[in-house]
Amino acid sequence: MIELPFRLSSTPMPYPNLPQVACLLSVTFAAMTFIPDAEAQPAGFNYDEAEVPAYTLPDPLVDLAGKPVTDAAAWQHHRRAEVLRLFEDHVFGRTPTADVAVRFELLESDDQAYDGRATRKQVRAHFAARGHEVAMDILIYLPNGVDGHSPLFVGLNFNGNHTVTHDPAVPVNQNWIRGGDHRSTEADRGTSAKRWAIEAALERGYGMATIYCGDLDPDFDDGFQNGIHPMFYRDGQTQPDANEWGTIGAWAWGLSRAMDYFENDAAVNHEQVALLGHSRLGKSSLWGGASDERFAIVISNNSGCGGAALARRHFGETVERINTSFPHWFNDAHQAYNENEAAMPVDQHMLIALMAPRPVYIASATIDVWADPRGEFLSGKHAEPVYALFGKIGLAVDDQPVADHPVGDHIGYHLRTGKHNVTDYDWEQYLNFADRHFGRK
Ligand code: GCU
Repeated sequence: MIELPFRLSSTPMPYPNLPQVACLLSVTFAAMTFIPDAEAQPAGFNYDEAEVPAYTLPDPLVDLAGKPVTDAAAWQHHRRAEVLRLFEDHVFGRTPTADVAVRFELLESDDQAYDGRATRKQVRAHFAARGHEVAMDILIYLPNGVDGHSPLFVGLNFNGNHTVTHDPAVPVNQNWIRGGDHRSTEADRGTSAKRWAIEAALERGYGMATIYCGDLDPDFDDGFQNGIHPMFYRDGQTQPDANEWGTIGAWAWGLSRAMDYFENDAAVNHEQVALLGHSRLGKSSLWGGASDERFAIVISNNSGCGGAALARRHFGETVERINTSFPHWFNDAHQAYNENEAAMPVDQHMLIALMAPRPVYIASATIDVWADPRGEFLSGKHAEPVYALFGKIGLAVDDQPVADHPVGDHIGYHLRTGKHNVTDYDWEQYLNFADRHFGRK
């Protein structure tokens, strides 16, 4: 058992009132044909490229004092912290300071998983603070027969670790789940297995790890009485302050605790951990990768609004809509930008830029218009100047590629034919991207 008691803190960083740092970024549009899909296109929102308003993005390379940021050191030591703080204060919320005891317990390990091709480990992270205890289960498969320690993909899952595999050794999660009577049963085993290319990853020498997001914070708006938030309340505090974290912040915090574990497991190459997430969990992988630079690659699969898609485009899901349907994902301060995106001191290209110089991958799907595929591409495009400071090439193309043509150097991108989902095709691109950046090919 590995014990890691440590103090988790976030240091407040003052910054001046926002100056006018916006610069006009011109964009070119190629016409795109969308296949109508009622589920993917809730009525009453804009899906017409011609209706995208003119917009001005904040410039990642002008600091809050209005000074240009001209080299990698200035980004890394000064501007990056400003941008991160803007996302904390206006979007995802600050992680409060608290003394949280963290203890990892190896629940079981078996080197005969997947017909002897993998070693399965199930590790429980115990968190305790202020009379609250929360447990987070990390399911890990590592390839057998490889020398040294394995690179790893890690991501949160939507419905419990038992849903990502048919492996009967993974217990059915007992926590609240979305849908039905909010309890999972044996019948749910493997129901998300198609979204997790565990065997393909193992075959290529990668481990795969996953955590049920609801272990950290159940995905509903309960005023933050459950999950990890109460562990962080001050005396008398009953819910996060307006600038403090919501559910996505809590999910990202859990991913960082998983990384603490990986750093202490010699079978994992903790310098080659790729963080991946789909949809709301793709928003979380971006925020997790922005706030924790130990993740070597960050992957956003169909993350859309609040993830990779530029908010100012007003295409598909809007800030107002997401704040209304899912008010618990962001901090309360984010509500100020409902139908008011232009006032945001950030847009999502700056979230992508927070990954620099690490490789980041953005994936879209043709029918997933709710997530604004073009807006996802463009946030990668507008993050390129930050990568350039490090001498890194981003997407390496000017225009959004046609479907099923992956592009990119340090910013990977593809538009998959099909709907909002994670498929074998997506995984193949992520494995290729990781191979390239981890020097495996
Ligand atoms: C909804 C939501 C999206 C989110 C998605 C998901 O569609 O509006 O923002 O990405 O759910 O997480 O599946």
